[in-house]
Formats: sequence, C-alpha cells, structure tokens
Amino acid sequence: MFSERKATHITSESVDDPASLHRLADCYRYPESPSPDTGSPYVRVNFVSSIDGAATHNGKSGDLGGPGDRAVFRTLRGLADVILVGARTAVTEGYRQPQPDDVFTDLRRDHGQAPAPRFALVSRSLNIPADYAPLADAGTVVFTCASAPHDRRQALAAAGATIMACGQDTVDLKRVLEICGTNRWNRVLCEGGPSLFGSLIAADLVDELCHTTSPVLAGGDAGRIAHGPDTALRPMRPETTLTDDDGYIYTRWVRGPGR
Ligand SMILES: NC(=O)c1ccc[n+]([C@@H]2O[C@H](COP(=O)([O-])OP(=O)(O)OC[C@H]3O[C@@H](n4cnc5c(N)ncnc54)[C@H](OP(=O)(O)O)[C@@H]3O)[C@@H](O)[C@H]2O)c1
Repeated sequence: MFSERKATHITSESVDDPASLHRLADCYRYPESPSPDTGSPYVRVNFVSSIDGAATHNGKSGDLGGPGDRAVFRTLRGLADVILVGARTAVTEGYRQPQPDDVFTDLRRDHGQAPAPRFALVSRSLNIPADYAPLADAGTVVFTCASAPHDRRQALAAAGATIMACGQDTVDLKRVLEICGTNRWNRVLCEGGPSLFGSLIAADLVDELCHTTSPVLAGGDAGRIAHGPDTALRPMRPETTLTDDDGYIYTRWVRGPGR
C-alpha cells in the first residue's frame, strides 16, 4: 500500500542557468494537448502555499516564494500558450505581459508556439485600472461576460486590450477554453488566483496543479489556494516531485482515476 516516492533534487544556485531551466522544462513538459480527458486545451494551474496552507503572507504570494519557485514560474511561462489570471490577482501581484524568454526560444519554435504566451485576464466587473500596463497590448485578452458594465468595457478596449464576452452574467470558463482551443492556445497556464481556481475546480476543468510547498508555517488567517462553491471531490495523483536546497517541494498533480 505504501511506497516511498523519491523526489528529484534541484540546486538553487543553478536555477537560473539554461541547462537547469531545460531540465525543469523536461519535468514540466505538457502532455498531449488538447487534453485527451476533456477534448479541450490542457489546463495547468500553478500555486505556492505555506506548509499550513496559506496562499498569501501580507496579502501577496511573493513572501512564500524562493529562487527555485521563481525558476518553476519562469519555466511554466516558457512552456505555455496562454496565461490565464483573475484580474484581481494580476493587479495585486503586478503581473506583467509575458516577454519572449531566450532560454525557451528554440523549444517554443520546435513546438510551433509564438515567442511568448498570450496574457488573458478574467473579470466579470471589468473593474481593472485602465492604466494597468498589459492592457495597452492588443494581444492581451480580457474574458468577461455580456452583462459587464458597458462603460468599463469601453474603457478597457480604449486602453488597447481585446475584450471577449463568454456567458451572460458570469464568465463561462468552458467557453473561455473553447476560444483558447480555436486560437490554438492549447497549453493553458492559470496563475491564480484562488477564486478563479475555485471556479475551474467547480467546472471540472483542472487537468493539473503545479504546487509549491514553501518551507514555512504562516499561521494567521490567509485563505487557501482555492475557494468557491462546494463541489464533488476531484481525484488527482502525484506525477512528479522535486525538492531544492532551500527545502521547497514542487509537486505536479494530474487528473486521477475516475474523472
Ligand atoms: N499563492 C499563490 O500562488 C497565489 C496565486 C495567485 C494569487 N494569489 C493571491 O490571491 C489573492 C487574490 O485572490 P482572489 O481569489 O481575489 O483572486 P482571483 O482568482 O484573481 O479572483 C478575483 C478576480 O478574478 C475574477 N474572477 C475570478 N473567478 C472568476 C470567474 N469564475 N468568473 C469571472 N471572473 C472571475 C474576478 O472578477 P471581478 O473583476 O468581476 O471581481 C476578480 O477580478 C491575492 O492576495 C493574491 O496575492 C496567490
């Protein structure tokens, strides 16, 4: 019943060097996409939390990360076709438009991918500051719903972003993925936040969770990495486990049996 699973060790002095990043890219290679389970783009979600389950410290996830976590974050971006982020997370965490990363140029070209992933925000209210820098790029997509305030839609379109309505009163995430599929953005990376993750879990759209356990106890009352409506349990199984010199544990959880 029990077996000891050995974790692969990565060294934190070398996390920025191309060879280490390529090894990480090998560990985090996307499986067949579109997903054989859902027929839609493969949805990978990436989160960090403390050992005791806090998704933030002082309101942000940054304190929980370390060099290895940043290397994994960079690698996952290097492999994705589209980055999907809840608007609040994007603004709170100051997420920027992904730029082409020299380390992954050849890999992306070999896979027929654009030099950098698309950046896509999810928001019902469109309550995003119009001067939020990624909006100025027409490549940035904002997925919203038909009932979103008209003036906000106009403001964000005037800022430069492409606005797409999916659903009437809430953002229909299945429709979002259909649009991703139509655009051949089959390798989806969701970088949070917890509300968006909770919605993806509720819709049973999560193929994979890349989870970093930060070697700290946070206490306090920070939320978990997912929150939203109650759902049936979604079985997952561990696919890869990595550790580093700083004590972080990186686990890739993929769809488990019976889903
Ligand atoms: N530990 C980590 O790895 C990690 C990762 C990411 C974020 N975080 C933290 O999480 C916190 C933010 O949490 P949060 O739950 O508020 O973030 P969130 O998932 O970004 O959710 C809120 C935002 O996303 C939009 N949204 C989410 N789900 C939606 C859905 N199903 N349909 C339509 N819009 C949807 C909301 O739209 P509206 O604009 O309409 O409200 C809102 O702008 C921040 O403190 C951030 O630092 C932690």
